[in-house]
Amino acid sequence: MKIVSVIGARPEFIKEAPLVKELRKNHEEIIIHTGQHYDYEMSKVFFSDLKIPEPDYNLGIGSGPHGKQTAEMLAKIEDILLKEKPDLVIVSGDTNTTLAGALAASKLNLKLAHIESGMRSFDKSMPEEINRIVADHVSDALFCSTKTAVQNLKREGIAKNVFNVGDVMIDAIKENIGIAEKKSNILKKLKLKSKSYMVATVHRAGNTDDKKNMSAIISAFTESREKIIFPVHPRAEKYIHLYELDKKLKKTNVIVTKPMGYMDMLVLEKNSSKILTDSGGMQKEAYFFKVPCVTLRDTTEWAETVSDGWNLLTGADKSKILNAIKNFSPKGKQHEDYGNGYASKNIARIIDKI
Ligand code: UD1
Ligand code: UDP
Repeated sequence: MKIVSVIGARPEFIKEAPLVKELRKNHEEIIIHTGQHYDYEMSKVFFSDLKIPEPDYNLGIGSGPHGKQTAEMLAKIEDILLKEKPDLVIVSGDTNTTLAGALAASKLNLKLAHIESGMRSFDKSMPEEINRIVADHVSDALFCSTKTAVQNLKREGIAKNVFNVGDVMIDAIKENIGIAEKKSNILKKLKLKSKSYMVATVHRAGNTDDKKNMSAIISAFTESREKIIFPVHPRAEKYIHLYELDKKLKKTNVIVTKPMGYMDMLVLEKNSSKILTDSGGMQKEAYFFKVPCVTLRDTTEWAETVSDGWNLLTGADKSKILNAIKNFSPKGKQHEDYGNGYASKNIARIIDKI
């Protein structure tokens, strides 16, 4: 088969890495990079860290309001799909790139597969929730990471061609943690001892674009007095500057860095005592590494991490975050293995069959 994979944002590069290897065993694969993420630290570093082949097309769309950004992607992806005439289009996750790829394929009546299908936060104010719902409802093959995702789809009337295959991000961790531990010198570079620091990331619009929320999160970080490594997403950087919170972060317990490469991030996460984040991917990584996760949101799609007790939702509430930083200390058994590193193999096997 000729397969087109549409990717464009940081988590999509990571998901693509284990898939590329499996898909290319039996099929021709073409990669479209929409250019949604374009800084070296947000894009290129993942292609080199994870040895992802150069994209066949880079659309260079860049940043912009959701409608314009998605529309420009849609138009350009459509042109390429008309030219390439693939047998299957693959999108993953919940970004505007996912939405554009899914719409372009379905409008052309091409077969579409959605990876990380069925995730729901049940919060439609999140742009990601809209993207997930639309992508799922126009997909022909739905690859889910968990049983909960399968059930979510069932509730929305989608039961055909739904496969619980596990999570490709777990494949990526398993494949790369050993390499990362050999290659990365991030602990040395930042003078960190294992389990003596926390890692934080913030990028959800609901946090960054709201002055009250962003201020509460930054205050909780600084007031905690814990050593916190904070690789700052460009969206957060923009708003931290706009709200003049950068001054508040100077010369504190919070160590502000550029976004990390994947290898450095894995090592940082594994050796941290806690992860404070609103990232979807990092909630899963925290769970995998058995590092307590404090999620700076009121909802999560990764329900198992919460029900097993390893993830605590604090929202952007300063006192809840402070309390979690000090006291959250889960120890319970973990029940979810997210496919145990075989998700991309499972996906390729099913694609080969159908
Ligand atoms: C996007 C996804 C989100 C995902 C996240 C992963 C959507 C709606 N959101 O959010 O689901 O969790 O990626 O990181 O698709 N910027 C740069 N350089 C870059 C990329 C972005 O400076 O390389 C800045 C720009 O100011 C831009 C802002 O970050 O306006 C937001 O970027 P955008 O891609 O729109 O959304 P993310 O917040 O990154
Ligand atoms: N990540 C990274 N460097 C960073 C922050 C995150 O490599 O500075 C990785 C992280 O380990 C995870 C993925 O990016 O694998 C998550 O992406 P992100 O948080 O941007 O998006 P989300 O998962 O929330 O959609």
